[in-house]
Amino acid sequence: MSSSATRDSFHSRIGFVLAAAGSAIGLGNIWGFPTQAANNGGGAFLFVYLLVTLLLALPALYAEIYIGNQAQKNPVSALAQACGERFKNTGRNAGIIGLCGAMMMLSFYTIVAGWMLAHALSALFELIGLTDISTWLSTSSTLRNILFTPVFILLSAAIIHQGVHAGIERWSGRLMPLLLVMLIGLVVYILQQEGAQAGVALYLIPDFSQVTNPKLIIAAMGQAFFSLSIGVGSMMVYGSYIKKDQDIGKLVVSIAALDTFIAFLAGLLIIPALFVAQHAGHEVFTNGHLIGEGQLIFNILPSLFASMGSVGLIVSFSFFTLLSIAALTSTISSTEVPVAYLVEDKNIARKQATWLVSAIVLVGSMTLVAFFDVLFGLVIQMLTTILQPLMSLFYFLVVGWIWQRGNKLTDLAQLQNNAKLKVFGFYLRYICPILLVIVFINVAF
Ligand code: ALA
Repeated sequence: MSSSATRDSFHSRIGFVLAAAGSAIGLGNIWGFPTQAANNGGGAFLFVYLLVTLLLALPALYAEIYIGNQAQKNPVSALAQACGERFKNTGRNAGIIGLCGAMMMLSFYTIVAGWMLAHALSALFELIGLTDISTWLSTSSTLRNILFTPVFILLSAAIIHQGVHAGIERWSGRLMPLLLVMLIGLVVYILQQEGAQAGVALYLIPDFSQVTNPKLIIAAMGQAFFSLSIGVGSMMVYGSYIKKDQDIGKLVVSIAALDTFIAFLAGLLIIPALFVAQHAGHEVFTNGHLIGEGQLIFNILPSLFASMGSVGLIVSFSFFTLLSIAALTSTISSTEVPVAYLVEDKNIARKQATWLVSAIVLVGSMTLVAFFDVLFGLVIQMLTTILQPLMSLFYFLVVGWIWQRGNKLTDLAQLQNNAKLKVFGFYLRYICPILLVIVFINVAF
């Protein structure tokens, strides 16, 4: 099973881009980004987010995909190989930490994704008149978590066990276009409602007085790293499934552009929707802040949908299905990280590896459900503000310094006489780590 000759792969560049964009586009885009934007000055957040994506997240994504692509191995082996004989163990351990990050992410992500699924079904049951079931599905409860989290884990497992081409590539190719169509449809609908214009104005006109606010910069950075799925090995493992020596730069720009476009569209849906809700008499903001992050998706928008009659039920179903699809294409990429490791390094068959990983994720997520108040926020915060930026720093150091005891990209640029790559190599070696450390110091103190 572990022989590289039989290694599964993506069959086309577009297949890879859709899968990687699917990994990137998730709850972070459709829920996280608009919430953060609404809380942090709308356009000002969008502006800083774009800047941070360009300056830091994009190079980190490049480094991550590049390492995987060069090694053509799972993230643990890829990092061990990139670090060379001398730092092999450091690379391997970093790979394991990233893999644990992927499992951490799955443990909370599958819970939230389960909520989305339950809300989508709730709209469906309401539509066919089963109001009691519908109410239960849309009301938060431990039992609902216990039932729906495993459903979501099973959905991911069902795709992952089929393999890279037959599972990930095929399903990403189906789900991503569907997601785009649904999102555009919802944006068009919401923008036609009364009150939407005020939301569009808040979203698109930056309040530049907020742009230098350190809290806003840190929030934008966490959001950018989470949104591009950087630092947990998902992008590295996907990068290992495309042929070596592709133009990684172009691929990375396509993925980031799609991810940012969807986040932008989600903002254009949700922020105007909030103002539509406000216009219809719902309380949305107190002192310029959203009433609560969870309430946005699970209270404000559902009550807005409810006030729209049966059209609202269809809008609600579409909205939560959209979120479920976005979540699924993200969970499959994180699941692939430990699965690829078990298959390649531990010689476990893919199906067994998938079930084993799913079982571990289930234990993790049920632990979060059991100690929800203490653990849920903590795990998310540790992952997004510590683990993901730290892993990115490690990628920068690997590509810029450790690999072949020098700057891998500069060497390559010299070999290919590529001036752009040379500048990028310099940027990645010196500027990116410094920028990241500065932001880190800001987070810590
Ligand atoms: N990148 C995924 C998201 O944005 C995890 O939700």
